[in-house]
Amino acid sequence: MKKEKRLITAALTYVNNIPHVGHIVGCHLPADIFARFCRSYGYDTTFVGGSDMHGTPSLVTAQELNIPVEELTGKLHEVHNQIYKKLNISYDIYSNTHTKTHEKITTDFFLELNKKGFISEGETEMFYCEHDNMFLPDRFVTGTCPKCGYENANGDQCEKCDSLFSLNELKDAKCKVCGKPAVLKKSKHIFLNLSKGTEELDKWIETKKDIWRPHVYAEAKKWVNEGLKDRCISRDITWGFPIPLEGYENKVFYVWFDAPIGYISITKELSDEKYKNLWQDRDAKIYNFVGKDNIQFHTVFFPTMLLENGNYNLAHNVVGLNFLNYEGQKFSKSKKIGVFCNALIDDNPEIDVDALRAYLTTIIPENRDTDYKWEDFKNNCNSELVGKYGNLFNRSLNMIKSYFNCKLDYTLDENNLNEFDQELLTAIKEMPTKIAESFEKAELREAYKLIMNYASIGNGYLEKSAPWKLMKEEKVEEAKKVLYLCLNLCASLCIVASPIIPTKVKELWSNQVGLEGDPTAVDMWQYASQLLIKNGHEIKGVQPIFERIDNEKLEKIKAIMSEPYEIKEHF
Ligand code: 2FM
Ligand code: ZN
Repeated sequence: MKKEKRLITAALTYVNNIPHVGHIVGCHLPADIFARFCRSYGYDTTFVGGSDMHGTPSLVTAQELNIPVEELTGKLHEVHNQIYKKLNISYDIYSNTHTKTHEKITTDFFLELNKKGFISEGETEMFYCEHDNMFLPDRFVTGTCPKCGYENANGDQCEKCDSLFSLNELKDAKCKVCGKPAVLKKSKHIFLNLSKGTEELDKWIETKKDIWRPHVYAEAKKWVNEGLKDRCISRDITWGFPIPLEGYENKVFYVWFDAPIGYISITKELSDEKYKNLWQDRDAKIYNFVGKDNIQFHTVFFPTMLLENGNYNLAHNVVGLNFLNYEGQKFSKSKKIGVFCNALIDDNPEIDVDALRAYLTTIIPENRDTDYKWEDFKNNCNSELVGKYGNLFNRSLNMIKSYFNCKLDYTLDENNLNEFDQELLTAIKEMPTKIAESFEKAELREAYKLIMNYASIGNGYLEKSAPWKLMKEEKVEEAKKVLYLCLNLCASLCIVASPIIPTKVKELWSNQVGLEGDPTAVDMWQYASQLLIKNGHEIKGVQPIFERIDNEKLEKIKAIMSEPYEIKEHF
């Protein structure tokens, strides 16, 4: 059978700052866990990501710091890349949208849309600063939101009430650079005819009713039902790709026009073959993992671009996440409210990346907004990772070490299985399939829960079978059987947990359980429901794999991770 080809994308991150845990949980980590699962399950998997270089936020920050925007975005791109590596986000490529390949693909994409009649010209009013002599992109303008009255609304959107409006609705508009009033001035622009594609888009969205999460489908439908307006895709700024039309010499593409095309060009950077296989062969499946505020762009705006262009595949699933809060509040860098990722750069020994990944998995905002709570972080580590998962390895391996000098000379006798043994064998046969079903639906929190239940089944089996008692009663073969089955369960637990705690399972597999190969390798899942331990197997060692977190340690970690990255100190 031909392997299914899957492309997994994580939303391309703006580089006007560095990511906080909200960005990780709301996109990079779920995409990574899913990609790791897909590789393990044997899909022909490609996972791409990158930095969204052309956003106006980067331009605003560069202006504030008085440095060239290329310098800012180039350096921050590297910092982002480093942080995702530290978190073991397994991108096959982490690139960015300021490359020659991307410029070529974006330009060609646009020319094709133009050729097919989906681009029109028009005049729009834009804010202009008479003092700075420049047109002001959305993020350079601030004013009062016409809907909720919030005083720091940006250009055409309000981050407080999440509404979008047109520029002339913004009240008391001011230039962000100099603070003087901004005035509306006419300028020539190009528009993408979204309205022409609405019917086809709606048909496509209908095919997703049972694939997308309900809130993603609902949001897409809401936009379509409200009626799509043609959208201006040029900007009067100097940061971005030039528009290849006469009369547009001082204008560039709107960042949301070029950014999603980045998925295509970044795939092409990997290889021409992947580009063709994933974007043009119709049987490839694309999964976009995106944060809440990106859902409309991935279910409406970008798909319409793709439908109108006609040369590329559309997403199979848009896995739209929700927001993460911090201890009941919104993340805020300026108020130092949140958990920041800069601490990861220095490899601080207090931070156990897999323990963090595991906790973050429990709060992936799959169906609603969720909350980061340090107390929950501690509890997840102590009761799940140490108490359930680690405990099973520790007890099983310790007994194999002390009773049998690390070596299990044992062959399973199918005729000598009691009810408890049967139950454990059934679990090994069935739980990996159940866990895979959750991963497959990108229900990652559920998958994690099932993995912990699976470890609990092992702990329960140990309690009920009590090999220490069997040893006292000199039922040595019986004790061996119990530990043999537990060791098989440990091997299986390495494979099924590999998408979430990849470093720990490798350590357990090679240096403790003592198996050859790599539990995180491609196509390993099939072995999760097999008995992998051979007669005469020797374990390699025993060591607690996760460390308990007491209050003192928690305070230390909290202090390290609560310090935001001060961009000014790095430029
Ligand atoms: O919201 C953001 O961070 C955007 N930079 C996401 C872009 S996703 C994709 F289309 F590139
Ligand atoms: Zn100004």
